[in-house]
Amino acid sequence: MPWAGCLLRRRIHWLSSAARADCACSYVGLRVFRQGLQALPWDSLHTRHVSVHDLSNHEETTMATTAAAKKPSTASAKTPSARAPATAKRQKDACDLLDADHKAVKTLFKEYASLSESRSRSTTKKRQLADQICKELTVHATIEEEIFYPAVRKAIKDNDLLNEATVEHASAKDLIAQIKGMDPADELFDAKVTVLGEYIDHHVKEERTEMFVKARASKLDLVSLAGQLQQRKDELMAEEERKAVKPVAEMAMAP
Ligand SMILES: [Fe+2]
Ligand SMILES: [Fe+2]
Repeated sequence: MPWAGCLLRRRIHWLSSAARADCACSYVGLRVFRQGLQALPWDSLHTRHVSVHDLSNHEETTMATTAAAKKPSTASAKTPSARAPATAKRQKDACDLLDADHKAVKTLFKEYASLSESRSRSTTKKRQLADQICKELTVHATIEEEIFYPAVRKAIKDNDLLNEATVEHASAKDLIAQIKGMDPADELFDAKVTVLGEYIDHHVKEERTEMFVKARASKLDLVSLAGQLQQRKDELMAEEERKAVKPVAEMAMAP
């Protein structure tokens, strides 16, 4: 029975292979043996045996690949491209420039309030501070009216907001003119400066919370506008300085 010899050799070969194989292979071999699957074609059993090997290897490979995907690569984490890009610093725009003026003049008003509360009789200091406030506000209002307001009016198309701001400027200028023409010793001088300060507080609040917000939300090039505002401010400040020097020179030349 040559087929019986052949079958016996193949079974011996299979058992020795199963003994050498890893636990999965042994498990398959023992299970097949227990269940009496000797009747199965040996080629089919061998194919199944190989398939278990392949599956085991595939699972190990898959697990290794998944673990590698989950674990961030140390090398790539250290590369500059893996880091979040640094946020670019925002360029100063027209609103920043104007708000710096608002803060500067607010400081001057506070200084004046301290002087006034101290019951100081120094009218010279009051005059100096009041003149400084008037100069800063006049230049600020001029650059807004010449450059900023027309540009914003065109960009945001809110005429009511711009009209109200312009009327507030006119009222402030009226008070400024009164303060400039008054003697600091006048009983109402402090009150005029205080009311001007309160008036400017209200106006600035509206610019900050409405006009600047709408201007920044528009397509207006506020960075370019800041350059124009600064240039005009420098010109007007130089003009104000010349006006302040002129009366002193005239007084010196008087007989
Ligand atoms: Fe204004
Ligand atoms: Fe302003």
